[in-house]
Amino acid sequence: MIEIHEVSRTFAAPGGGEVKALDGVSLRIGQGELVAIVGASGSGKSTLLFTMGGLSAPTGGRVVLDGQAVYDLDQGGRAALRRDAIGFVFQTFNLVPYLTTLENVMLPAILAKRGRREAEAGAMRLLERLGLGDRRHHRPAQLSVGERQRAGIARSLVNDPGVILADEPTGNLDPESAGHVVALLRQLNEEGQTIVLVTHDADLAEQASRVVRLRAGRIIEDRPSMRKLAS
Ligand SMILES: Nc1ncnc2c1ncn2[C@@H]1O[C@H](COP(=O)(O)OP(=O)(O)OP(=O)(O)O)[C@@H](O)[C@H]1O
Ligand SMILES: [Mg+2]
Repeated sequence: MIEIHEVSRTFAAPGGGEVKALDGVSLRIGQGELVAIVGASGSGKSTLLFTMGGLSAPTGGRVVLDGQAVYDLDQGGRAALRRDAIGFVFQTFNLVPYLTTLENVMLPAILAKRGRREAEAGAMRLLERLGLGDRRHHRPAQLSVGERQRAGIARSLVNDPGVILADEPTGNLDPESAGHVVALLRQLNEEGQTIVLVTHDADLAEQASRVVRLRAGRIIEDRPSMRKLAS
């Protein structure tokens, strides 16, 4: 469902020269996979995830999502694709500070022009499921960091996207909250949700089904996880 063909991404380096953040990356990710993208800091993980998600155009190559060449779409078409087909989860949560938890989770549904009542019902179902039902009127600053990330995951799910793209979703969490978030992502995947996550955490990566390792903008390893091999 996600096909990346020979994607490269070059940035102008401040002070001259350029950085090849991605250098000829090809990757196919099928429905129902849970893929961990790993690699050293600066190896191109976030750039790959954002390029995959229609947030950052590659300098070369193609990204195809469910048969649609993502960067053939104009800005508006790409925004609609991101809204409807992709759920983003960020390391720093990116919740809107002046909205309540419920309003944050509803927001993508409202933007997708679903009725307010339907948006609210969908958001409430997710909050209940993620154990945040009684936090619905809290604002992000009034939530624990683990709760903020669960709210971020609820928000990513509200439009029932084909794929979740998560950049270091446990990067700001204590080990216990991180464990909850990992368990949640695995459970969603077991229900069929396709998930691509970037992580520094080797243990977390082995919870995926497949591990893709980048070095200097290239894929140097693509293998089943230890968990997959053990099962
Ligand atoms: N906007 C930008 N302008 C210039 N260079 C950039 C820009 N964004 C990223 N880069 C460079 O591209 C390379 C890859 O960056 P990227 O953010 O994808 O790395 P990463 O693997 O996600 O690292 P980390 O684990 O630290 O988050 C880095 O060398 C970075 O300095
Ligand atoms: Mg990164």
